[in-house]
Amino acid sequence: MNYFTTTSAASRRAVDCVIVGIYDRGRLSSGAADIDAASKGSLKRLLKNGDISAQLGRSAVLTDVAGVKATRVVVVGLGKYSTFDVAKFRKALGSALQAVSGTKSREILNSLTLEDVSGAGSYYLARHTAQTVGEALYRFTSMKSGKKAPLMPLRKVGLAIAKQGDAAKSKRGAKHGEAIVAGMSIAKDLGNLPANVCTPSHIARTAQKLAREHKNLTTKVLNEAEMKRLGMHSLLSVTAGTKEPAKLIVMQYKGKTGQKPVVLVGKGVTFDSGGISLKPGPGMDEMKFDMCGAAGVIGTMAAVAKLKLPINVNVVVPAVENLPSGLATKPGDIVKSMSGQTIEILNTDAEGRLILCDALTYSRRFKPDTIIDVATLTGACVIALGHHRTAIMSYKDKLSADIVAAGLSSDDLGWPMPLGDEWGAELESNFADMANVGGRPGGAITAGCFLGKFTDGLNWAHLDIAGTAWKSGKQKGATGRPVPMLTEYLLGRCGALP
Ligand code: BES
Ligand code: MN
Ligand code: ZN
Repeated sequence: MNYFTTTSAASRRAVDCVIVGIYDRGRLSSGAADIDAASKGSLKRLLKNGDISAQLGRSAVLTDVAGVKATRVVVVGLGKYSTFDVAKFRKALGSALQAVSGTKSREILNSLTLEDVSGAGSYYLARHTAQTVGEALYRFTSMKSGKKAPLMPLRKVGLAIAKQGDAAKSKRGAKHGEAIVAGMSIAKDLGNLPANVCTPSHIARTAQKLAREHKNLTTKVLNEAEMKRLGMHSLLSVTAGTKEPAKLIVMQYKGKTGQKPVVLVGKGVTFDSGGISLKPGPGMDEMKFDMCGAAGVIGTMAAVAKLKLPINVNVVVPAVENLPSGLATKPGDIVKSMSGQTIEILNTDAEGRLILCDALTYSRRFKPDTIIDVATLTGACVIALGHHRTAIMSYKDKLSADIVAAGLSSDDLGWPMPLGDEWGAELESNFADMANVGGRPGGAITAGCFLGKFTDGLNWAHLDIAGTAWKSGKQKGATGRPVPMLTEYLLGRCGALP
């Protein structure tokens, strides 16, 4: 997509479509006010007649508006003026784009970037525009046969700015937004692909392809024999029941010399049947999304590499399939993790932590400044936070607060949850150093505490994305989260934010 900035008034630019908004009680956005003045009060009249609405996300397409150079004007409802924020900006713009997609517009101008949105200046409004446009254009059609419906022909998007002095910030926002969208699309594609295509080997090939596309980025893939030599018996216990070979995918991006890296570890269970502790049938197809942690960290890596950020980032993805068979791990089996700690596997469906603990131990070799794991780890997390926020757990308050803040400004929200020995005590085992499950209460936290037994001395945080990584129902599909949150965190660390 081609992004440009402009200080010209909404009515003066000869684009195919200009997007303007109206707030409750007839208050016009600054672009709408300009169009209204140029067209001798046409918007106010339409509003009075009830033909356009201020209701958040309601759009109307107007054509042949007198005095306006654009072919079309899309008027979108922005809701209440005093509570207009980034999330509402994105919702309104998304709906306006939906209306645009029904037209043949190739070049549009978003005048909503002139609005006073709490917590966002021209950088973030440009970024959220690019992200919203990118998300509107995303389709997952690779598994459909036959002719594909054409996408909207959009090629150029204008970002209205109040003064020329905002141009650099706005352009930078659009560039960052496009990189985030590209990372999210990679993450969504990996998530949406079925488990018979998106195998551990497929994720490994995707990571290798990315390394070929970017210098400064390398990918190394370890096979099961190599993992065995490293002592990753906890990880390997999860793959015992399947013929699909497990992979440990290691990506390294070097953007700055002599700096300790941020390591991102992503759960890559390409299908989670539960193993011998088999899951119930209904909805089991959604366990193809159990590699969305892996997809999220690889997508974030793609955004970082695309932006050539001055930072060092490593990605470690343990990728396995969790199936039952005559060779599968059984409840009660005890394995030795790479850390030397032994684990009694009381439930083979608590497999995410079994692969992550070895990946976390492996990651120590990078002497990380910070290490963040991302996983669709527990159903309990969905019960706790629903589908709106990613759970953020850390013993390090500063790290937790930084990630929460990154979620806020990127509109990819998280919420802090506690960790502590009170919950960790649930993991006691009569036979091994620990069990892999506790009771049902506080299940997201016990899972976090389990991982915490492998991150001693590290500046570590755990993100449970079980509720946020994909949508169910009619809109079933991967969301690309938490690519925005993680990229925002990394952008902040290298001082690339305004
Ligand atoms: N991948 C699941 C978690 C999950 C379930 C995510 C549903 C999203 C929706 C994970 O491997 C799992 O099965 N966890 C168990 C843990 C339990 C056995 C302690 C769970 O949440 O039921
Ligand atoms: Mn499971
Ligand atoms: Zn799982």
